[in-house]
Amino acid sequence: MVTDDNGAEKPVKSVIIGNYLLYRLIYASETVGSTGASTLSVAQILGVSERNNRRDDITSGVMLHDGWCLHAIEGRRVDVDRLMRRLREDRRLDNIRVLVDRPIAERRFSEPMSLCDNPKAMLKAVGLPELARITRYEAERIVALKQAA
Ligand SMILES: Cc1cc2nc3c(=O)[nH]c(=O)nc-3n(C[C@H](O)[C@H](O)[C@H](O)COP(=O)(O)O)c2cc1C
Repeated sequence: MVTDDNGAEKPVKSVIIGNYLLYRLIYASETVGSTGASTLSVAQILGVSERNNRRDDITSGVMLHDGWCLHAIEGRRVDVDRLMRRLREDRRLDNIRVLVDRPIAERRFSEPMSLCDNPKAMLKAVGLPELARITRYEAERIVALKQAA
């Protein structure tokens, strides 16, 4: 069984898309130096991510705010794990904390990499002043809000 976004249980076979299971992993991390703060650093992240995630059939969304990053990744287990290994080796990220890692029935993101353009509004909507102490529940809420936006 897997739980959906409302906590209801669903049979695992309902999340088989094509012939593989889809997963969503959400992590929070500190960003190092000017990562996420300068246009150039954001453009570099988006450029590489767009290329790699398209290749690996990963869809994702990232929020960069005030020295923190919240990143949701959707794809096959093997591809999510491979990306997480690269992210853990990336010196632009520090203290990666996985908040959610679960099978999903459907993707919430449609693009290989999308940037949240209103992080303050998103955080306010879930009652958080900053990303530093975000919980699993708030991370799921933000992803759901992002899809509804
Ligand atoms: C905040 C942040 C988010 C990132 N997201 C992704 C991503 O979704 N996909 C990806 O391939 N690389 C992402 N990267 C970059 C990876 O850490 C790594 O540098 C990259 O995947 C290496 O790709 P390459 O082996 O093609 O050079 C991200 C980096 C940062 C700092």
